[in-house]
Amino acid sequence: MSIKITDLTPGFVGEVSGVDITRPLNTDQVAALEAGMDRYAVLVYHDQSLTDDQQKAFSINFGPLEHTAGGNVTKAAERRLDAYMADVSNLDANQQPLARDDRRRLFNLGNQLWHSDSSFRAIPAKYSVLSGRIVVATGGHTQFADMRAAYDALDAGTKADIENLVCEHSLIYSRGTLGFTELSNEEKQMFKPVRQRLVRVHPVTGRKSLYLSSHAGTIIGWPMPEARAFLRDLNEHAVQPRFTYAHKWKQHDLVMWDNRTTMHRVRRFDETKIRDMRRTTVAGDRVTVEQMAA
Ligand code: OGA
Ligand code: MN
Repeated sequence: MSIKITDLTPGFVGEVSGVDITRPLNTDQVAALEAGMDRYAVLVYHDQSLTDDQQKAFSINFGPLEHTAGGNVTKAAERRLDAYMADVSNLDANQQPLARDDRRRLFNLGNQLWHSDSSFRAIPAKYSVLSGRIVVATGGHTQFADMRAAYDALDAGTKADIENLVCEHSLIYSRGTLGFTELSNEEKQMFKPVRQRLVRVHPVTGRKSLYLSSHAGTIIGWPMPEARAFLRDLNEHAVQPRFTYAHKWKQHDLVMWDNRTTMHRVRRFDETKIRDMRRTTVAGDRVTVEQMAA
């Protein structure tokens, strides 16, 4: 059995066959998948019925796992999954859908905004690996936007304008967009803004991409309304249908994406239904810009 990757969207989304990722991979297989991630930016696998441990073991082939601390308002004691599994389901620790007005649910609605995972961390994520354990029949698609193609399509003047811009990213900004503004002092401290370049260069391919995310709330040195208006404009450009792909989940699909070169969002669905999605995150290895002293 050898790994095959075919186009779902040429140069952006690939579909992987010929590998059972529930089992340990050899170095050739890992190299083939990593090369696939560099060539595409999103890889789709089918029929991978994983346990959490298998998902973590698979993800670790691509780098150390990111710890989930600091990324949510869910308290450690309320967690359904362990600290290296990002729980992007709509469930509580008893496997029941969260109530409509549950604060954790309202916070997680932020996943419906276009974003790049962990752009609110000083060292943002490399890959995300999302496993569809229980999927919903209607809605709940995950959309992806190719930020390399979006960058390439900018005019020369805009490229020059943004080349050295630095943004501030925080969960406070993304949730603020939804009117989720009530945060404890501890949460405000935990969600302190970090700095990220607006244009990133991929460490392997050398391709530039727009590093946008709903977490981006201002541009250093700009008045905030001007920064917000400009970021909104860039976002509108970047998520045009020609740059996007929608994944319609089947049970035991697994999708992995490069957060350095893509944005994603989940579309709304009937939240009285169970949608059990579990994410592992491969940590990044560098800041995109030097951080200010705390
Ligand atoms: C994520 C996320 C999308 C989804 O896992 O990072 O944003 O489809 N989830 O649940
Ligand atoms: Mn996400």
